[in-house]
Amino acid sequence: MYDGGKIITGIIIFLLFATFPFYYNIGKANVKPDPKLDTPVIKQLAEKKCVESKEYMRANHMQILDDWRNMALREAKRTYRNAEGKLFEISLQNTCMKCHSNKNKFCDECHKYANVKPYCWDCHFVKEGGAAK
Ligand code: HEC
Ligand code: HEC
Ligand code: HEC
Repeated sequence: MYDGGKIITGIIIFLLFATFPFYYNIGKANVKPDPKLDTPVIKQLAEKKCVESKEYMRANHMQILDDWRNMALREAKRTYRNAEGKLFEISLQNTCMKCHSNKNKFCDECHKYANVKPYCWDCHFVKEGGAAK
């Protein structure tokens, strides 16, 4: 007599272990975007904080940029007050890209993954080394 259920369970467990290195790598390394925060300006920040919280920025940075553009161009407002009451100059170049000077390792890293191509750089200046490759 033998227990078919146990043998099948054993085979399944064996297969899970044998293929583990393979599926463990799915979604890692070459697949998941890995935006880098190691720019000279960010390294020197006492508090490693963005304009708003990381979660908020991740989800809403496009909206913030859109609002900033409207505030600057339609309302001639050049200062943004964040949720904590901190003030920032409203500028893609002088604010966002000053901290995130590594556009290709930061913005582009996610955008390539998400397959979005913001057209901002047709006009807005990107520093040398920060340009998309
Ligand atoms: C004072 C420096 C500074 C400025 C200015 C700044 N950022 Fe950030 N940004 C950071 C830091 C530091 C983080 C990481 C925050 C954390 O880990 O909590 C970050 C995080 C982010 C993230 C989330 C990244 C992730 O991995 O989820 C996005 C998106 C982002 N910033 C976009 C922008 C945009 C767009 C602007 C301009 C509107 C901007 N940032 C302005 C320093 C800055
Ligand atoms: C953590 C990943 C991540 C980082 C970092 C990031 N973005 Fe994005 N961004 C996205 C995603 C995802 C979308 C598309 C969102 C959507 O369609 O709802 C997007 C969309 C945008 C859009 C709108 C584009 C469009 O065609 O709708 C702009 C503008 C933009 N990002 C600017 C920036 C800038 C500037 C930076 C660097 C300072 C940056 N993003 C960094 C993930 C990121
Ligand atoms: C056709 C050219 C053009 C394109 C494309 C463009 N902009 Fe602009 N943008 C301008 C000009 C010109 C100004 C006005 C500069 C000023 O008065 O400071 C401006 C101002 C802004 C400002 C406020 C002031 C500043 O210096 O940053 C923001 C924020 C901004 N743009 C964001 C964006 C974003 C985000 C995108 C892409 C989704 C984008 N722009 C695409 C031309 C452009």
